[in-house]
Amino acid sequence: MSAQRYTRTAMVLHWLVAVLVIANLSYTWFISSLPDSAVRPAIDLHKSFGLTVLGLVLLRILWRLSHRPPPLPDSMPALERGGAHLAHALLYVLILALPITGWIHDSAFKFAAQHPLTLFWTIPWFRIAAIADLPPAQKEAVHAFWFSVHVWLSYVLIALLALHLLGVIKHQVFDRNPVLGRMLPARRNS
Ligand code: HEM
Repeated sequence: MSAQRYTRTAMVLHWLVAVLVIANLSYTWFISSLPDSAVRPAIDLHKSFGLTVLGLVLLRILWRLSHRPPPLPDSMPALERGGAHLAHALLYVLILALPITGWIHDSAFKFAAQHPLTLFWTIPWFRIAAIADLPPAQKEAVHAFWFSVHVWLSYVLIALLALHLLGVIKHQVFDRNPVLGRMLPARRNS
């Protein structure tokens, strides 16, 4: 019989990415209302979470390429199955695109020299040299354009996450297909 649950590695990667992405999608909206002294640390934390997501998503993609996920329940209609696969593929694309567009935007930051990129205030990280070395006017344009892309993609990601959650609730509660259990560790007595 094929496994009905994701592996422990897949579960850890899924929940870590979920927590970090939701954190970055939520508190970032309120950064401008924070006291001045908290703005820079909040943005630095946002970048650290985002770059960590990038690393974790690359690991998830490697996991996905080397493992077959547990099959969706047989009772699920073909259309819903196709929809779930499409939504999952789009989630991967967006969760990759968000940190990449943020990193491009930040690499064009004109005050980059005064604000070095460090992961969690400890590990020095690099900006994308091809962007950081552009002439000032071009850099400003890159900075503004990729910020708009970053923000728009965040709206699309919020919509997709809502769809993902509604899908889980529909299957779990209304169709009585315990899909959530596939991404949770087994209980000891089950
Ligand atoms: C999981 C990944 C990420 C998500 C979901 C995400 C999402 C967001 C959201 C929702 C905003 C707020 C937009 C607004 O204020 O209108 C934002 C702003 C921003 N993001 Fe990201 N982001 C991610 C990764 C990154 C990365 C990796 C970097 C840079 C290395 C970055 C740099 C920024 C910057 C500089 C801002 C502007 C903050 C401000 O000035 O208030 N982001 N991001």
